[in-house]
Amino acid sequence: MSRPLTVAVAGLGTVGTGLLRLLRDNGELIACRAGRPIAVTAVSARDRHRERGVPLDGLRWYDDPVALADDGESEVVVELIGGAEGAARALVERALARGKPVVTANKALIAEHGARLGELAERKGVPLAFEAAVAGGIPVIKALREGLAANRILRLSGILNGTCNYILTVMAEKGREFAEVLAEAQKLGYAEADPGLDIDGIDAAHKLAILAALAFGRPVDFRAVHVEGIRALSALDLRFAAELGYRIKLLGIARETAEGIEARVHPAMIPLEAPLARVDGVFNAVVVEGDVVGRVMFEGRGAGAGPTASAVAADLIDIARGRSTPVWGASGGALKKLPSLGIESHVGCYYIRLMVLDRAGVIADITAILRDLGISLESMLQRGRAPGEVVPVVLVTHETEEIRLTAALSRIAALEVVVERPMVIRIEPG
Ligand SMILES: NC(=O)c1ccc[n+]([C@@H]2O[C@H](COP(=O)([O-])OP(=O)(O)OC[C@H]3O[C@@H](n4cnc5c(N)ncnc54)[C@H](OP(=O)(O)O)[C@@H]3O)[C@@H](O)[C@H]2O)c1
Repeated sequence: MSRPLTVAVAGLGTVGTGLLRLLRDNGELIACRAGRPIAVTAVSARDRHRERGVPLDGLRWYDDPVALADDGESEVVVELIGGAEGAARALVERALARGKPVVTANKALIAEHGARLGELAERKGVPLAFEAAVAGGIPVIKALREGLAANRILRLSGILNGTCNYILTVMAEKGREFAEVLAEAQKLGYAEADPGLDIDGIDAAHKLAILAALAFGRPVDFRAVHVEGIRALSALDLRFAAELGYRIKLLGIARETAEGIEARVHPAMIPLEAPLARVDGVFNAVVVEGDVVGRVMFEGRGAGAGPTASAVAADLIDIARGRSTPVWGASGGALKKLPSLGIESHVGCYYIRLMVLDRAGVIADITAILRDLGISLESMLQRGRAPGEVVPVVLVTHETEEIRLTAALSRIAALEVVVERPMVIRIEPG
């Protein structure tokens, strides 16, 4: 068999040690598929003395991960540190500048700096691969860049964050509140001690920015993604959703319209029969609609040592084989500068939950505001009567423009009988 592909790995945490284990356990099979063995020869992490459950004997150790880029005996750099800045960014920039192929699982880095890093890789004629950065073990990057390359992508939607999906699944199934389920997810290791990146939608937005760039052939633009998280959702909304025939999921949605590209991450109500409604727990899924292929759905584990290492190793196999495609599917010069659309131009149906004082005339006041702004209702739910008490009122609108809805809600929120900020959830096909 030919000479091994030599690899330097920065970061020996969940994914880094998972990769070392995978390359050892499936080494023979991987060598067959890669046409040659893949051998880790150098590593870096912060703590040299930490027990990592994988043997590191015989591997060159670097305290400074950036120095891996200069390691003369490794051909490829694998960055598994994380974070859009700091050591991860410095290492990737240096490795590419030195003309070394890079594999990374770092969605924050690729979403925020991927356009420039892609240009650098292209200039140097080396691969920059990031299959593991989106949806862990699901090969959705390869699918968009290669398998679906002949299609104009019309729309893409996905459950891109396992932590949020786990929390929403438990809230829906057990009728429990967000804070309680988050605390339990943290204990079980499904949520980080600092859960902001996940529950505020930022992690999903990083992934959506990457998918949207590949799907629509334009430079990756994280800042153009509208982001809302799941903190404000209550068990009440999940119950009403079920009653109306929907599930609530945190979705990443990207769509090409005549005016430009829409990219948004937010809680969405989707019909119970939509395929994404049945993706529960920590699973991820992506639905892609191509003009020729129709709908294609991918589902699997979006995180964890095994699934993520599986994607990193797939990128290494491509490099070992000498298979490469342009970083963003087409060469930098061929990417289109399509305009990004703001959320105010969104058109759709909405779920609105109001907490109102149960008084005569309340509903008439609310519906008058909606009528004045040209918003029509598909249905309304009001449970029981409790004169003088606060009760929920749920409205489902027909299709309307978000800008109109926002104007109506600010008037509704100002009514004396409305005691909480209205809860609004966009309704999506899935
Ligand atoms: N975990 C997942 O399921 C998953 C899924 C998809 C993508 N990813 C991505 O994969 C990457 C790694 O994630 P992970 O979960 O494996 O992270 P992790 O468990 O926190 O591991 C990070 C590793 O990086 C090392 N490190 C941190 N700062 C460093 C520095 N300045 N210099 C040298 N080494 C440094 C740490 O060293 P010490 O061990 O010595 O502290 C640790 O080994 C991230 O970009 C993440 O977004 C992770």
